[in-house]
Amino acid sequence: MERAKRSKEGAALNRNIQERLVRGLNLNLANMTSLATAYKQAHWNLQGSGFAQLHELFDRFADQTREYADLVAERAVQLHGTSHGTIEGAVKETTLPPFPLDEHRQDLLVTALVDRANAAIVEIRHGIDGSEDDLPTQDVYIEIARGLEKQEWMLRSHLTG
Ligand SMILES: [Fe+2]
Repeated sequence: MERAKRSKEGAALNRNIQERLVRGLNLNLANMTSLATAYKQAHWNLQGSGFAQLHELFDRFADQTREYADLVAERAVQLHGTSHGTIEGAVKETTLPPFPLDEHRQDLLVTALVDRANAAIVEIRHGIDGSEDDLPTQDVYIEIARGLEKQEWMLRSHLTG
């Protein structure tokens, strides 16, 4: 009896944890969707002396970031949640500011991307801190943190020196 009660309480706790994790995963899905579209926007509108290299770099980062969206979206469903993967869902839930629509200048585009990558990293790191109860979810966040921090470093390096 006591054992059954404990296991019932355990299941309820797990559901609460799962629901919290799914909410966090959806917030980060929104951010990954927003960041991936920002990379594409910069890929298309870029003008400047670094065009050839940055055009390719932004495209590669858009692809990587879509893979991160896939990771968090599928993790949400693995935890019995629903993933909110539409553009409209991203607009509702993202913590990233809107990306400039009419910017062409290379330095300003790179700066706008660095700012948004950093905003995305903040939430991914919140995700790491908040998923200690579920190591597979934490592993997803850690993988994304490693990738986004590398992107941020590579972007930032275009602005110095
Ligand atoms: Fe393209």
